[in-house]
Amino acid sequence: MTTAPWPDHGGDAAALLKRFRLPADHSFEDVSANLNPLGPPPWVADWLVECISGLSRYPEPSYRAARRAIAEHEGVAPEQVLLTNGGADAIFLAAALHAGQRGLIVTPTFGEYARACAAHRLVVTEHALEAPRFGLQTAALDEPVTQADVIFLCRPNNPTGTLVNAVEIERLLSCMPTTATLAVDEAFIDLALDAEPLTPLLARYPQLILLRSMTKFYTLPGLRLGYVLASAEHVAALACHQPPWSVNHLAAELVAPLLADTAFAQRTRQWLAREQPRLGQALTHAGLDVVPSQSCFYLVRPGPALCQRGLSSALLLERLLHHGMLARHTYSFAALDGDWLRLAVRDGSANDRLLKVLHDCVR
Ligand SMILES: Cc1ncc(COP(=O)(O)O)c(C=O)c1O
Repeated sequence: MTTAPWPDHGGDAAALLKRFRLPADHSFEDVSANLNPLGPPPWVADWLVECISGLSRYPEPSYRAARRAIAEHEGVAPEQVLLTNGGADAIFLAAALHAGQRGLIVTPTFGEYARACAAHRLVVTEHALEAPRFGLQTAALDEPVTQADVIFLCRPNNPTGTLVNAVEIERLLSCMPTTATLAVDEAFIDLALDAEPLTPLLARYPQLILLRSMTKFYTLPGLRLGYVLASAEHVAALACHQPPWSVNHLAAELVAPLLADTAFAQRTRQWLAREQPRLGQALTHAGLDVVPSQSCFYLVRPGPALCQRGLSSALLLERLLHHGMLARHTYSFAALDGDWLRLAVRDGSANDRLLKVLHDCVR
């Protein structure tokens, strides 16, 4: 058994290969990254080449055209949109707005809320959701929300895939002081089947800000692109914390054509409607505990029968990697402590390969 530390980032394949004493050139498929397997849309590469000449100029500083395209797509006013350098930038801006104040993070969740709060010296309280279903009982938050200046909630949540419905969100908002912020990170909302939109709540609750990413749905994490939807006042306050020209020319120019590609969006929804439930059922059938997910990934762990035969999540991760599948460990998620693994939903044949390997690993 090796004592090398678990890498902080779950997708750090080199560190995991080293930990399990596998050669650096060991071949594997990545089932840890929760990105749309259909993207990026095929026209994007040529389109970027065509736009390259624009790199010799500064981008238009308020990103008017991109914000207008997002506003039309979301049914809000352009003043309610802030373009950001990925969803991660939006998270750090929300924390900056409440620097030195009190933060509340609903865990287990994406680690960047804690990092953003630490960077801006917030005093953080965590509200831990209970395994194995990780559902949020908002009544349990009635008291904590009155004592926080900013609350980070992920919808659907990474890594559990669970989704808080609009009624529950409204319930939280109605308990919050008007000076506080509810930052709902919806990086995966386009990859959530049947999610009710929260945008209609923006008009009634100035506390609400929605953090969005365009890197998951369009499979462009290297490009960096996201946005915030909020009241015009909130957007103006967040913009004060953003360095000028935060979003590069190529990313900003790509916003309108990406949103206009309805055929890609439809293909994605069809894939998700087919593969997401199919994979979930097959994982359960293989003997895993599977958290009911509403997005393109599943949080799983060996179920009771497999545990009895000595199979832990760490051992399953190791076996999967030996068999050429890199799953996401959960040592870096507060409150999970490695007890679970996250698996991405991929295209049909890739999911079949995972299921075949999984059967060999749990035998
Ligand atoms: C929940 C969540 N929010 C935000 C992000 C950041 O996404 P982006 O690539 O847009 O910065 C991630 C990335 O993994 C994420 O999981």
